[in-house]
Amino acid sequence: MIIAPSLLAADFSKFGREIARVDQSGADWLHLDIMDGHFVPNISFGPEVARMARPLTRKKIDIHLMCSRPEILLEPFAKAQSDQITVHVELGDQVGPLLWKIRSLNNAAALAINPPTPMSLVEPFLGQIQSLLIMTVNPGFGGQPFIRETLPKIEQAFRWRQERRLNFHIAVDGGVTLESAAECARCGADVFVSGSALFKQRSLPRAVAAMRKTVEKNKRDIDRR
Ligand code: DX5
Ligand code: ZN
Repeated sequence: MIIAPSLLAADFSKFGREIARVDQSGADWLHLDIMDGHFVPNISFGPEVARMARPLTRKKIDIHLMCSRPEILLEPFAKAQSDQITVHVELGDQVGPLLWKIRSLNNAAALAINPPTPMSLVEPFLGQIQSLLIMTVNPGFGGQPFIRETLPKIEQAFRWRQERRLNFHIAVDGGVTLESAAECARCGADVFVSGSALFKQRSLPRAVAAMRKTVEKNKRDIDRR
């Protein structure tokens, strides 16, 4: 099980210190949310933050592009030595070439899906991705409440992965707290992106350990039906 703190909930006046804090927290990945003010109604930060983060942590740097023109950002992030880049399935025809380009830049390719988007859109790409990011809030802001209606999507992804003998991660992002993480784990999620629920705790190592314990306890076994 993978715990991925999202830097969006960190103190923006102390990025370096916050990244070091994640590095020493026992978490697995560092999740960076890139927002362009067009695909989502908010702006966050760009490749320079990833470049600054790289020497501060050995964790996998996971770039979540909430951007209308991700093609202009793939090389800058790869150059900043990202490990994984996620694009949104809502981009339509561009998705196949984008995933290919990400892999050609020696990054893991991941695909994200927004709450209202049907799972049929991600189905054709399941064999080409290392991770499927199921958004459990509408993207754009941290600190929103978890949308429970997204849980069947996690179950669907789990079934597809098992039936087709694939091995992509099933990630959840948005409103992930100890309670919602447990529900997601029971449905089959194995990557837990969490911003405010982790950063608002005084001890990040303790918050990460508690989330790990909860999701391990609730993790779904392979169905033998
Ligand atoms: C939402 C972002 C998330 C965000 C999650 O648009 O993709 O990664 O940081 O924040 P919380 O955990 O606070 O909902
Ligand atoms: Zn995210």
